[in-house]
Amino acid sequence: MAFDENSTIEELEDLREKFTSALNSCRDDKCVEAVRIKYLSKKGELSKKFSLLGKLPPEEKPRLGQALNKMKNLFQESVKQKAKEIEIQKVQASKIDITLPGDRDFLGKKHPLLQVLDDIKRIFSEMGFAIEEGPEVESDYYNFEALNIPEDHPARDMHDTFYLPEGYLLRTHTSPVQIRVMERQKPPIRMIAPGRCFRKDTPDASHSPFFYQVEGLVVDHDISFSDLKSVIATFARKMFGRHVNIRFRPSFFPFTEPSAEYDFTCMICGGKGCRTCKGTGWLEISGAGMVDPEVFKSVGYDPEEYTGYAFGMGVERLAMLKYQIDDIRLFYENDLPFLEQF
Ligand code: PHE
Repeated sequence: MAFDENSTIEELEDLREKFTSALNSCRDDKCVEAVRIKYLSKKGELSKKFSLLGKLPPEEKPRLGQALNKMKNLFQESVKQKAKEIEIQKVQASKIDITLPGDRDFLGKKHPLLQVLDDIKRIFSEMGFAIEEGPEVESDYYNFEALNIPEDHPARDMHDTFYLPEGYLLRTHTSPVQIRVMERQKPPIRMIAPGRCFRKDTPDASHSPFFYQVEGLVVDHDISFSDLKSVIATFARKMFGRHVNIRFRPSFFPFTEPSAEYDFTCMICGGKGCRTCKGTGWLEISGAGMVDPEVFKSVGYDPEEYTGYAFGMGVERLAMLKYQIDDIRLFYENDLPFLEQF
């Protein structure tokens, strides 16, 4: 076989290009090793070229020999270099960069409403109140009838009710828990009942079709309206600070007589008058009153023997005041930036 030195040199060039592009495409040391074996091992591409040397006439050997040796060195150097690069990349990838901000462990926490509910429960527990619960799906009897709100009573208008089949409904307030507790227990009673209520209200900044209330009920011998006032005042100060005053305004509820609505000093302006309290210095909290004798009769208590007071409390309203939130809907939107503030 005739030997053409020029074409061999060209082939070498070709080999170098292939080698370089194979090596450059490597991303790990396995690949580098494969390239090394393919080109530099005993049976590799370069050795094949070396074996051609023997076929050359002696005077031509040196040129090709030199070219081959140069190429071998170049290949070896390149493989070493590439292996080093990959090693450095590996170290960089695994290295702990202490200048990076640390990963923040995300710990869930209680919803602001439940935090306020916890405060309310704690404060009343400290005052000797038991914590009771009742069902969210109620019968018409517990939600209305037993509370002296018969079928055609105009007070039913105050409660836009979600009715369910067979005389059931979603409770419109926590007052039915009063009846359930009195039915199964004799006085003395001193309890609160926190829970969710439902009304067919169109959502806006101050209305939601579901909301939390806390009911309060105290029944014993000689319970008076002043007891009610002192408990509400104590609660207001424990919740919002000692400068908060309370005020009662005459009102009407079928299950209390006399009835009142009660207000707290506006803690946003300290009673001076601001936008939140519409300039009055007072914020309406809920209703309260002395338990109506009709209610005692419906649970079999003797109204001649016992007296009692009851009050309601709007949890969202208290939470809005505590955190100065002006839209009730924020509590139900599960917006993380909002919730993370508490
Ligand atoms: N249940 C009444 C309401 O939801 C509030 C209330 C509770 C009033 C107890 C008087 C006594 O509006």
